[in-house]
Amino acid sequence: MQNVINNGGEANIPRHVAIIMDGNGRWAEAQGKPRIFGHRNGAEAVRRTVEAAAQRGIKFLTLFAFSSENWKRPKIEVAALMRLFSETLKKEAPRLKENNIKTVIVGDTSRFSETLQREIDEIQALTVDCTGMELRIAANYGGRWDIAMVTKALALKSAMGLIDPSSIDEETITSYLSVPENVDLLIRTGGEKRISNFLLWQVAYAEIYFSDVLWPDFDDAELAKGIDFFRSRERRFGMISEQLRDKDNAD
Ligand code: IPE
Ligand code: IPE
Ligand code: MG
Repeated sequence: MQNVINNGGEANIPRHVAIIMDGNGRWAEAQGKPRIFGHRNGAEAVRRTVEAAAQRGIKFLTLFAFSSENWKRPKIEVAALMRLFSETLKKEAPRLKENNIKTVIVGDTSRFSETLQREIDEIQALTVDCTGMELRIAANYGGRWDIAMVTKALALKSAMGLIDPSSIDEETITSYLSVPENVDLLIRTGGEKRISNFLLWQVAYAEIYFSDVLWPDFDDAELAKGIDFFRSRERRFGMISEQLRDKDNAD
């Protein structure tokens, strides 16, 4: 099988792309099918997108698969999603390894079944030495949970005298997050224009591309549109355009 990783030829590629993969249910309902049919086709879109992103030279890809709020869905849908997650991890692990993609599941995995937790451990162990793209699957993840975990860890360390509280700064917090990189490009499919408790801290200066495409239809062409959008933006980080031009000339 061809190794798809990092041909890296394109200029100004976002280093960290995060995607809120939304619209599976509506995609299925539009065809008169049950919602889980949309989730199954969504899993196919995940595989396509992971390989497309790796091929385009993206370094970090973080995908929102299941939010800490999604437990509120009907029991039957939650159970079907858990089964699909488990099947997909097992099925995709060898291919991820072959493509040199380091895979990590982020979120509160302690709420998953023991079997699923074991499958998570297995895929992480299998790909731990991979040096290509880093794929993070956010499952039972919430941006607020992530920040609360950091707060707890830092408070405990301070109480134990292992860290000086006055030394805690923004970089310390970033480095303790389960996703410790700022997002460059955030994509949300499915037409909604909200963050839904995804990477709250990490999207502080992300460019945000809202796509009306429903997740099961997402492909390399739509990813390319997101990247083109990213390239068309001027990232000022609080400065003014003139300063950025001066900086470019100085480089
Ligand atoms: C995203 O698609 C997948 C998950 C949240 C698990 P949805 O299931 O939210 O699809 P819509 O938004 O209802 O169409
Ligand atoms: C966000 O989608 C979560 C995932 C894509 C996993 P939702 O469909 O749960 O978001 P809301 O409820 O419409 O905000
Ligand atoms: Mg949705």
